[in-house]
Parts: sequence; C-alpha cells; structure tokens
Amino acid sequence: MSTQNLETFFIADHRRCDAAWAALESAADGGDAPTAVAAWREFVDAMQANLRREEEVLFPAFEGETGMTQGPTVVMRMEHEQMRAVLEQMRSAAQLGQWSQVLDYGDTLMMLVQQHNMKEEGVLFPMAGRALHHRWPELLPRLG
Ligand SMILES: [Fe+2]
Repeated sequence: MSTQNLETFFIADHRRCDAAWAALESAADGGDAPTAVAAWREFVDAMQANLRREEEVLFPAFEGETGMTQGPTVVMRMEHEQMRAVLEQMRSAAQLGQWSQVLDYGDTLMMLVQQHNMKEEGVLFPMAGRALHHRWPELLPRLG
C-alpha cells in the first residue's frame, strides 16, 4: 500500500493478531477440532510474527536512531516475555485439545495484549514513526 507508513504498518499488524484471536475464539467454541487447530496455528503465527517484527527490526532501529536503549523498548520487550509465557500455556492446552482452557488463557493474554498495544500505538509507534521516517524504505522489506 502506497499510503502505508511505519505507524500504520504496525497498527495493521496488531489488528491482524486481534482478528486471528477472534477467529480462534469462534473456532474453539465451534467444537470442531481440525478447525480449532488451524485457527490456533494462525493465531500463534500472527502473534510470533508481530513479536519478531518488533523485537528484531523496529526496536533495534528505534534504539539505534534515538539512543534510547533504556526507554520504552525495555518495557515493551518485558511485556512481550509475559505474553510469550501465556502463549506457551495456551500451546500446552492446545496440544491436549483443551480448547476451553486455551480460551481462558487467551482471555488473560488478550488483556495483556490490549494494554501493551495501547502503549505501542499511543506512544512508541508515533515516536518511532518520526525517528525512523527516513529509514522506512529500508526497514519495510525486512518486515515480511
Ligand atoms: Fe509489542
């Protein structure tokens, strides 16, 4: 998309994860195991891709450009670890086919995600969008 910039790219990535969660919720409620497994994989893939794009591309670029290595990215990385821990609990439950358990953990995860995303979308992405404006054409291909 020609109108896409750093901020809108990462916000869209969050919305993809939200949509994958909604799909997982309805698949797990539906009671059809193969559908739930497929939705689980899509969800965990979307989440992990988002964490990776932020941790391996966005945060290092932001830190390098601004020199802020002890700032918001430290908090965001810590929160990602909390999110990963809950994702692992979800994975164990999914492997056992315990879909109501998956959804319970998922509710906890999405509470963390919501608060986390608010900080990224409200503070970090706008800051990064300004700081990294000139580097966006170079960063975008690394976010696939
Ligand atoms: Fe994040």
